[in-house]
Amino acid sequence: SKKPVRVAVTGAAGQIGYALLFRIASGEMLGKDQPVILQLLEIPDEKAQKALKGVMMELEDCAFPLLVGMEAHGDPNTGFKDTDYALLVGARPRGPGMERADLLAANAQIFTAQGKALDKAASRNVKVLVVGNPANTNAYIAMKSAPSLPRENFTAMLRLDHNRALSQVAAKTGTRVGDIEKMVVWGNHSPTMYADYRFATVGGKAVKDLINDQVWNADVFLPTVGKRGAAIIDARGLSSAASAANAAIDHMRDWALGTNGKWVTMGVPSNGDYGIPKDVMFGFPVTTANGKYEIIKGLPIDEFSQERINKTLKELTDEQAGVAHLL
Ligand code: NAI
Repeated sequence: SKKPVRVAVTGAAGQIGYALLFRIASGEMLGKDQPVILQLLEIPDEKAQKALKGVMMELEDCAFPLLVGMEAHGDPNTGFKDTDYALLVGARPRGPGMERADLLAANAQIFTAQGKALDKAASRNVKVLVVGNPANTNAYIAMKSAPSLPRENFTAMLRLDHNRALSQVAAKTGTRVGDIEKMVVWGNHSPTMYADYRFATVGGKAVKDLINDQVWNADVFLPTVGKRGAAIIDARGLSSAASAANAAIDHMRDWALGTNGKWVTMGVPSNGDYGIPKDVMFGFPVTTANGKYEIIKGLPIDEFSQERINKTLKELTDEQAGVAHLL
């Protein structure tokens, strides 16, 4: 049987952690033949560590054949030792009266420390996915704090936005999500993201022609996808967790096992494509193979799309400027 791989998850006792760990341990992320060792990280706080122990008891009680080891950690320097896959879910949420700058600073501290710990302790091939918000900027901070690791190892989660866009388009066109190809989401994981179905096809037909309604695109589709997180909080009283965990599984699985030519969206450091400055952690369409992603190049950008891309890029460069002095 295969050699086990080490999967680190931060925020392991949180909502998303609870929806995520059982699926990793059952083989949904890395394959039904890949044994895993879970390296679970929580804040050192007694209550959080106790809750983490409870989650580990439940993981034990599932008797997953692929779960061959499990560790609890309160310090990333030990928690990321030899890690092959790191899912950085834990982050500082916005508290009452907290300004945006405070939020960025609090998270900069967490992701600087975690980036440094990965740099020092993790496998040189570690694949890092940042879920904790602001996800793109947190991923950028971790990448900048880990100079000895390849920058391509750091990614941010745009997959939930991608999946939300697929479902909205399937409902609008009366088709199945699984039949839709070439969806793209550009930019920041925030309401400014630009979900773009101009290249999408379903059963060989152009989605754009099937919909043929720019008013729906601008006034219904984009706000629905962009504000979906808020709509879920409003309905559920809690932020999206199972769908976020599902997107994290999709992202890591596709990165590790390949997409067979299918386009997916990943937040990755720009190489300058589409005029996005180098290193900005930006949602791009990619394909993946052999553990590497490749950005789809040369897609035409019309005026409407350029405006949207500029807006989400501006938000990201502002966030980056807001943390520059902390790096
Ligand atoms: P939660 O509050 O239920 O859990 C977060 C957990 O992280 C807590 O148990 C907390 O103790 C832990 N944590 C905080 N700082 C940590 C650190 N430095 N090291 C280790 N653990 C730490 O939150 P939930 O619902 O699980 O969400 C987690 C994050 O994911 C939030 O930042 C949320 O905004 C973000 N999110 C991102 C999405 C995306 O599409 N990128 C979608 C949905 C949520």
